[in-house]
Amino acid sequence: MSQPLLVARNLSHSFDYPLFTHIDFSINPAQSVAIVGRSGSGKSTLLHIFSTFMKPNEGEVTLLNHDLYTLSDEAIESVRRYDVGIIFQFHYLFKGMSALENISVATILSGEEIDYSILKKLEIEHLIEHKTSELSGGEQQRFSIARVLSKKPRIIFADEPTGNLDKETAELVMDVLLDYIRENAAALVLVTHDESMAVRCDMMYRLEDKVLKEEV
Ligand SMILES: Nc1ncnc2c1ncn2[C@@H]1O[C@H](COP(=O)(O)OP(=O)(O)O)[C@@H](O)[C@H]1O
Ligand SMILES: [Mg+2]
Repeated sequence: MSQPLLVARNLSHSFDYPLFTHIDFSINPAQSVAIVGRSGSGKSTLLHIFSTFMKPNEGEVTLLNHDLYTLSDEAIESVRRYDVGIIFQFHYLFKGMSALENISVATILSGEEIDYSILKKLEIEHLIEHKTSELSGGEQQRFSIARVLSKKPRIIFADEPTGNLDKETAELVMDVLLDYIRENAAALVLVTHDESMAVRCDMMYRLEDKVLKEEV
């Protein structure tokens, strides 16, 4: 059995009030896991904790065999740069650049080549010379996803990646994400309130009443 890519143990976090308590989670290579739950239930917070961007009040996170809370800043920076892919609901492309230049920024930093097959699968390869401002919202979102996948991450954290897309484009994005993790033995942690996307993952958890429960 291969090693999990992410293990979280006994996570608890509060802001003004307890958001969640005693959460355990793990994900293996080539696995996709969806986390669903109502708005405000703490899904994004949990994803920020999993992906190195936030420290919980309590608990441990082991990401790609690194214990995050004993790791140096340089080592965390390296994990973020080479191994972790993060997709948000709202894209963050550089505005003055062409779509292709946006992707080059990611591939140069991670030492990868641009993978045109991903652009083709996302049906945006004919748009690479366009400036960000000349692309529709859905096209920009697909370029931001292509930019993340071009880094060849070992684990992808996606927060409502299809939230602003029409159904057909959302299905296409899910096809591409799920193919990517299968082909690269990567993992996908998908946060969404859209259960029609969540059911496509191998497992689904619900964050509700401060706890994370597997849906069966
Ligand atoms: N940095 C923060 N400081 C204080 N409260 C926060 C912070 N981030 C999130 N919250 C609160 O925590 C709750 C959960 O937020 P979030 O994790 O974004 O939920 P979800 O993604 O499920 O909608 C919300 O009530 C939100 O206002
Ligand atoms: Mg959220």
